[in-house]
Amino acid sequence: MTTTAPVVHLRGGGTSVVVTTSGGRLPRVLHWGPDLGDLTDDDLAAMETTASPAIGDSAVTYPQPVPVVAQLSEGWLGRPGIVGDRAGAHWAPRFEIDDVVVERATDAERVRVTSSDAAYALSLGVEIELLASGLVRVRAEVGNTGDSPYEVRSLDLGLPVPATAGELCDLTGRWALERVPQRRPFDVGSWVRESRGGKPGLEHAFMMLAGEPGFANRSGRVWGVHLGWSGNHALVAERTPAGVRRLSGGELPWPGELVLGPGETSTTPWLYGSWGEGLDDLSHRVHRWLRSRPAHPRTPRPVVVNTWEAVYFQHDLATLERLAEAGAAIGAERFVLDDGWFTGRRDDTTSLGDWTVDATVWPDGIDALADRVRELGMDFGIWFEPEMVNLDSDLAREHPEWVFDAGHGPGMPSRHQHVLDLAHPGAYRHVRDAMIEVVERLDVAYVKWDHNRYLLDAGHSPSGRAGVRAQTLAAYALMAELKELRPGLEIESCASGGGRVDLGVLQLTDRVWPSDCNDPHDRLEIQRWTSLLVPPELQGTHVGARDSHTTHRVHPLDFRAQVAMWGHLGVEVNLLEASEDELDEIRAWVGLHRSFRALLHSGDVVHADASDPALRLEGVVSADQEEALFQLSVVDRPATWPPGRVTLPGLAPERRYRVRVVDPVGRGATGVLPPWNAIAEGVVLPGTVLSEVGIEAPSLDPDRAVLWHVAAV
Ligand code: DGJ
Repeated sequence: MTTTAPVVHLRGGGTSVVVTTSGGRLPRVLHWGPDLGDLTDDDLAAMETTASPAIGDSAVTYPQPVPVVAQLSEGWLGRPGIVGDRAGAHWAPRFEIDDVVVERATDAERVRVTSSDAAYALSLGVEIELLASGLVRVRAEVGNTGDSPYEVRSLDLGLPVPATAGELCDLTGRWALERVPQRRPFDVGSWVRESRGGKPGLEHAFMMLAGEPGFANRSGRVWGVHLGWSGNHALVAERTPAGVRRLSGGELPWPGELVLGPGETSTTPWLYGSWGEGLDDLSHRVHRWLRSRPAHPRTPRPVVVNTWEAVYFQHDLATLERLAEAGAAIGAERFVLDDGWFTGRRDDTTSLGDWTVDATVWPDGIDALADRVRELGMDFGIWFEPEMVNLDSDLAREHPEWVFDAGHGPGMPSRHQHVLDLAHPGAYRHVRDAMIEVVERLDVAYVKWDHNRYLLDAGHSPSGRAGVRAQTLAAYALMAELKELRPGLEIESCASGGGRVDLGVLQLTDRVWPSDCNDPHDRLEIQRWTSLLVPPELQGTHVGARDSHTTHRVHPLDFRAQVAMWGHLGVEVNLLEASEDELDEIRAWVGLHRSFRALLHSGDVVHADASDPALRLEGVVSADQEEALFQLSVVDRPATWPPGRVTLPGLAPERRYRVRVVDPVGRGATGVLPPWNAIAEGVVLPGTVLSEVGIEAPSLDPDRAVLWHVAAV
C-alpha cells in the first residue's frame, strides 16, 4: 500500500524499526532495537519531533537523524552515502522522495522509497526490510536517467545505534586462524574494515558490532551489521563529534567497475543488521532467518569423509576405495574427493583449469570410485576451484588472455596460481561445461568450491579494466547455473578455509568451510565466532588428525570429536591408519552426532559467560526448550581448582530438567569430576537453578571437554 504517514513502524521478531520519510528526505531510522509495542501515528510523530537535536552556534547542521544513504548536500560530513560522478560533475547528489510504499507480509514488513535528483538525472530506490526473525536488511538501487554515463564509486548504507553503544567489536584472522575478535572503544572517528582481495578474506571483519561496554554472550545490548557480498567491500563504525553513531557498509568497486549507462540501474547487496540482549540473541535473529528460507538445507546433514588431510594429492583408486569403505563403516554418508583428481594435478603447482579426469592416475575414470561410494550407501562429492588457473596448465597455455592482467602481466602467483577471468564468456563456458561434464557423469551430489588466491591484479584483458566486481557476479552466476541444472546439488564455500563466508554466498551454497585448522583448540573459537552468523548445520566441522596438520598440537580423539560435533560433521583423519579401537571410537562419536543431529541443526545456539576465561560452555537448545545438549570445554588452566559452577543458558525457567553426562566411548573425562557426575541417571533441577545458579564444573585438564544432555522431565 502507498502511505502518506511519514513515520512508519515496522515490527517483527521482538524488533522495532521506526523509519521516517518526512520532508521528502531520504529515509531515516529513528529506532532500531527492541520492540516498542503498539504506537499510534501521534506517538510516531512525537517520536520524530523529539529525535531532532538542538543545533548550537557554529555547528554544522548535520541532518540528524542521518538517512540510510547519507548525503553531503544536506550537511553530512561523515562517510558519504553515494560517491559518484558524471565526467567529474554531479558528484554531490540530493535526492528527494517521489513515493513511499509500505508492505506488511508474514515473512517481512518493508518500506520501499523511490526518489530522484532531477538536476543530476539520477534515481535512487531504498528498501528497508524487517524480516520475521527480527533481522533488518537494507539495500538501494541507483539509476542513471540521463543520457551520458554515470560512475558510482561507492554506495554505503548505514543504520544508527544509540549512545549507549560505547564499545566496538569486529573480527580479523589469517590462514587457519579465522575470526579472531578485536574490541575497542567507540571513539569519535571511523573504524573502517575493508576487503579488497575479491573475497571477504581470511581476515574478514565479518560483522561490525557496537554495544554496551562489556557486551557478552548473554548480556549487554549489542547491534551489528554485515554485508551480504562476496566481493570487495567495507564495514564501518562511525561516530561524529555531533553525537551520531552509525554502522554502515557497502561495496568497494575499483575505478570503472560500476558505470551506469543511460537508463541503467544497479542494486547494492543487502546490508544486514541484527541486535540482541547479548550476542546469542543477536545471532538467533540471523540463524532463524536463514532457517526460514525455502532453500535452507532441511535433509539430515550427511556425515562427510573428506580425502584432503587423509591422502592429499596421493590419489589412487584402491586406496580411496578402502578409505570409502572405512568411511561407510564408521557411519559416514558422504565421500568427498578433494584436490588432486584432474589432469596433471600431482601437487599444488600446476593444472588448475584443466578440469578433466587425469587419465594417468585414473585410467578407467573416477566412475568406479563414485559407484563404489554409492554402493556403500554414501553420496559422492568432488572438489573444484573454478575461478583459478595455474600458468602451468593447458588452459593458460591455450588462453593466456583469460588470465587476469591489470597491465603488467599476470602478476604475482599465490599458492603458485592466478585468477581466471570468468567475465570472459569463453572462460566462463570452459569452466561451466567442464564442471557440468564431471558433475553429470559422476552423479555428483556435492561440490567443494575452493578459492585460494586473492584478486591482486584482476584486469580484464585486453583492456586491463578492473574485473573484480564482474568476477564476483560471474561466480554467483555459475553457482546458480549449476544448482538450476542439477536440483539438489549442494555446494560448499571454501576459500583457503574460511575466506568466503558471507550471507551473499550463503544464498547459493549449503555449507561453509570455516577453516583449514582442524586443531580442536583453535577450532572451538573459530566455530564460535563463525556462528555469529552461520548456524551449525551450515558449518563444516571435521575430526582432524591427532597431530594437527596446521598447528602440530596433539589432541586425543575425544576432544577432536567433541569439538566437531557442533556443526555439519565430517572426518578428515586418515581412517586407513587408525587402529581398530580408534575406528570404534570414531564410529561411536559419529553415531552420537547422528542421534543428536536433528537437535543440533535446528535449536538455538547458546554460550554461557563463564567467569573463568579457561572455560567455554556452549549448547544448543531445542526451539520448544524440551531438550538441549551442552559442552563444557576447558581450554587453559583455570584460575581456581575446582573451577566453580557454570550456568546452562537458554532453558525454560519454569520447567524441570534431567542433566546427565554423555560419554559414548565410556572412557570418562580426564580430570577430577564433581560427585554429581557419578550419578548414572543424572540429576533433576529446575531451569531457574540451571540457568541462574549453575552446576559444578569438573576439573578437567586443558583441551578436554564434557558433554551434558538436558531433557525436560
Ligand atoms: C584449501 C582448502 O581449504 C582445503 O580444505 C583443501 O581443499 C585444499 N585447498 C586443496 O587444495
